[in-house]
Amino acid sequence: MSDIDIDTLTSELHTLSTISDAVAPAVTRIVFSETDLRARTWLKQRCEQAGLALREDACGNTFARWTGSDSDLPPVATGSHIDAIPNAGAYDGTVGVLGGLEAIRALRRAQFTPRRSVELIIFTAEEPTRFGIGCLGSRLLAGTLDPSAGQRLRDADATLDQRREGAGFTGPLAGVRLPAGAYSAFLELHIEQGPLLERNGHDIGIVEAIAAPATLRVVINGVGGHAGAVLMPDRHDAFLAAAEIALATEAAAKSTGIVDTVATCGVCELFPGAVNSIPSRTRLEIDVRDIDLTRRDHVLTRIADACQTTGAQRGVDVQVERLNADPPAHCDPAIVDLITDACRRRGLSYARMISRAYHDALFMSQIAPTAMIFIPCRGGVSHRPDEYAPPTAIARGVEVLADTLARLSAQ
Ligand code: GLV
Ligand code: MN
Ligand code: MN
Repeated sequence: MSDIDIDTLTSELHTLSTISDAVAPAVTRIVFSETDLRARTWLKQRCEQAGLALREDACGNTFARWTGSDSDLPPVATGSHIDAIPNAGAYDGTVGVLGGLEAIRALRRAQFTPRRSVELIIFTAEEPTRFGIGCLGSRLLAGTLDPSAGQRLRDADATLDQRREGAGFTGPLAGVRLPAGAYSAFLELHIEQGPLLERNGHDIGIVEAIAAPATLRVVINGVGGHAGAVLMPDRHDAFLAAAEIALATEAAAKSTGIVDTVATCGVCELFPGAVNSIPSRTRLEIDVRDIDLTRRDHVLTRIADACQTTGAQRGVDVQVERLNADPPAHCDPAIVDLITDACRRRGLSYARMISRAYHDALFMSQIAPTAMIFIPCRGGVSHRPDEYAPPTAIARGVEVLADTLARLSAQ
């Protein structure tokens, strides 16, 4: 139905990647940083140029609406995120945001008139970098995160409330929540972040379920001291306990024997962090995921047991906090069928799959029928500066997105 202007979209993806705190091609864009705010301003201008009406909520979720002919009906939504973890690439999230914008522009160029409004959502803090848990904006929209998180969640120096207000997003977080039925459907376009589509020569991935993520924060308090003077048998080294817990995490994930179980210890912070000082405190952050909730929770229990045993054996205090433990999401079969139909009509090859990464779609699925469109990315690489999706792959994803949005907005 619509022709995608891939040159404009490619150039926009490039421009956005340059609004970054890392040296190109790496991208770092932490939520509410000055760089994030510059990127938001640039993006809002693009949305306004496309004739979309803008709204922002108290946590910075941004909504850009193309008003339909029956504007009383719940809109159809699409979107993703523009925040990027440290040393990331240019495509995670941004393909769903700028691709969503291009899908809307392409439908407008094709003189399509939506019956339902079509809304592009740019979610705040899909990445957990700053506040420890991901999908902040979509969790608040879906009502799965209590608004008290504004005071409870914090970075090293300030609370979420202080940070969002400093960025100009004021008002009670309780007002962010949307009722179930606020959208008739939600559709997120994203790079696969895994190798299967490219490896199997598929143009499009149609996501049927999103894995269940959980995050643990483990704080170990041992006894510091002089690296030369304290004798080895007398030590209670907080880092060595952390190292054992990290290895136990790997063992717990592998023990299921299932490829869908994964666990990562991606943060290890030592105090005081001097080469000639025994670490007295260590903070680990552990990410555990599975498509099966029972199996995922079993891994969490094994890690918690390892924390207790290691603490006792090493004479250190180990505190485990569950930052989040979310259920998996199942995509809406009717939208999955519409995406499948769009692929067939366009002569694109496709595969149905699960998403091992989490996305804002995980939480949007709690308030709206939801599905996801994946496109291949080179080598399945993501969360790295060499993340790359070819323009042809992006254009196909946006075409399928536009076709499916058109069908959903006509319903
Ligand atoms: C999202 O970035 C994830 O970690 O899956
Ligand atoms: Mn990511
Ligand atoms: Mn993402």
